[in-house]
Amino acid sequence: MLALAVVVVISYLVGSIPSSIWVGKIVKGVDIRNHGSGNAGATNTFRLLGWPSGVAVLAIDFFKGFASSLWISQLAYHIGSGPITFSFWDVDPFLMIVCGVFAIVGHMFPLYANFDGGKGMATAAGMLCGIEPVSVGIAAVVFAIIMFSTRYVSLASLVTAFVYPLLLVMLKHGFGWNLDGSVLLLGGIVGLGIIIKHRGNIKRLLNGTENRVSSFEPAVG
Ligand code: G3P
Repeated sequence: MLALAVVVVISYLVGSIPSSIWVGKIVKGVDIRNHGSGNAGATNTFRLLGWPSGVAVLAIDFFKGFASSLWISQLAYHIGSGPITFSFWDVDPFLMIVCGVFAIVGHMFPLYANFDGGKGMATAAGMLCGIEPVSVGIAAVVFAIIMFSTRYVSLASLVTAFVYPLLLVMLKHGFGWNLDGSVLLLGGIVGLGIIIKHRGNIKRLLNGTENRVSSFEPAVG
């Protein structure tokens, strides 16, 4: 129980690293939550600071989820019991899921940034990649098709968050994939959380004022 509590707290603290806020302050001296969409995420970083900063934030946010579900979860086996050795397989899915979810919670409500964080797409993708990478690859194709055809990142995020749990159900029941029921439940919970975090985007999409991806030119000069 103590080991579980420790890895959950570590995952939350790792997820709390507000990469977009720190990169914005380091690169341009701005808090990106006061500009663009106001979201502390990779999309707003691309929009405001350009692609090098955007790629850095995307990679860090993805890695927070990936490291939590795949590696930090494994620390639970070793707390108080000898040397640490990491495995890419044979990890308890429950531990991976709990750690990954707390990394997403940290990203959305970061301790180091007044609990005002991002929407969780990149961290969720990283977390799910640590647990079930193939379905994340399929979801990434769905995301890319919608983003490049509509130029709305938010619409691509919303559709992917909605489709991902259905995709897992289809892979399990239609194609016989051996997916743990908890992974399906996780897909649904994470998808729902991401959709709720996109409330403002949904309003803007409906009234026609949502930002489209236009260029890689930074909006904050
Ligand atoms: O993952 C976030 C994206 O879907 C929307 O970002 O900055 O346009 O609100 P943003």
